[in-house]
Amino acid sequence: MTEVAVRLGERSYKVYVAAGEVERLGVTARRHLTGNRILVITNPTVRALYGGTVQKSLAAAGFVVCEIEIPDGEEFKTLDTVKELYGKALDIGLERGDAVVALGGGVVGDTAGFFAATYKRGVALVQVPTTLLAQVDSSVGGKVGVNHPRGKNLIGAFHQPRFVVADVTTLNTLPVREIRAGLAEIIKYGIIRDVRFFEWLENRLQNLLNLEQTALEHAVSLSCRIKADVVSADEREEGIRAILNYGHTVAHALEAVGCYHHFVHGEAVGVGMVAAARLAVRLGMLSVPEAERIAALVARAGLPVEIPAGMDAEEIISAMFHDKKVVENRLTFVLPEAIGRVRIAHGVPVESINAVLTGAS
Ligand code: NAD
Ligand code: GLY
Repeated sequence: MTEVAVRLGERSYKVYVAAGEVERLGVTARRHLTGNRILVITNPTVRALYGGTVQKSLAAAGFVVCEIEIPDGEEFKTLDTVKELYGKALDIGLERGDAVVALGGGVVGDTAGFFAATYKRGVALVQVPTTLLAQVDSSVGGKVGVNHPRGKNLIGAFHQPRFVVADVTTLNTLPVREIRAGLAEIIKYGIIRDVRFFEWLENRLQNLLNLEQTALEHAVSLSCRIKADVVSADEREEGIRAILNYGHTVAHALEAVGCYHHFVHGEAVGVGMVAAARLAVRLGMLSVPEAERIAALVARAGLPVEIPAGMDAEEIISAMFHDKKVVENRLTFVLPEAIGRVRIAHGVPVESINAVLTGAS
């Protein structure tokens, strides 16, 4: 088992990465939680697969366990769903000393996390991510929240979990499209912080796609370590944490223009990472061979590298200006200077972005 520490003073916590860790959840929870009652929030898909194991493990450790389902899908990551959670939690008498376990992918983690951040001014949260994307990204770092009709993740909070359990065996049931989406975020960590990890991914991509346990454990724990280091340095994204948004300026715009139906998040990040690399080349920051290496790895992961035919570059750029991260109407990009090192660039010229999106040479 690998333990990754997120160092945030009194809010510090560990991410436990290992096969079979969900079965030991109760024992781990006993070490970290003081209360005696746990509310598991999950969705029907994940409940059918892992709800029983989680219930059994928590009950065996002496916890009183309640369970609430939220519907499966990004479209249910809303305040309406959270409102329903408030009502059901009040019905069962959930108290401030009780804890919430978020069992599922990023949608469950973000929604249950926002509920936990706000119910009775905050209850303890445990993240048990069951998608690759959630294991390497959304369960770590404390960002929780829901979507608003006008944009993704516009309503949210920072609420760090008490601990995170990333059990790579849960990925055996994950559709391959979701595995590829998680790989996008893993590749991101290599590009922003660690060229040796990027090289390792070039050599071991097939092992990950084959869901080989040792390779998965290595990739998940190294990704969590990189994210933990960045979050420990800048919890509230006042500076360096923004590098975690590599590929996301274009990705969020693509998701908005495609109304979230065309791409899952990781696919949009694939296109966005390649676009940002090409933009860095255009701005004289990155060499062509390095940009090509980035595009090649993203493509080998089975992710898209170009904006889909029929999507209008101007519409995508316009969507970028509506992103919540736009400051003083200037577009910000995280741009690679080399694989393993990025810089945050403010006020990137629209003409350069347009040229990259339209493939102009
Ligand atoms: P998701 O939660 O929608 O999960 C994808 C699908 O896989 C769902 O249908 C889910 O029910 C199913 N599933 C989950 N685990 C499974 C398993 N083990 N076996 C079979 N099916 C399983 O999607 P996601 O990619 O995990 O998360 C995306 C969300 O995460 C987005 O809302 C995004 O905004 C958010 N996110 C948040 C952060 C953050 O820092 N908070 C970071 C990145 C992404
Ligand atoms: N996913 C970006 C962040 O957690 O900051």
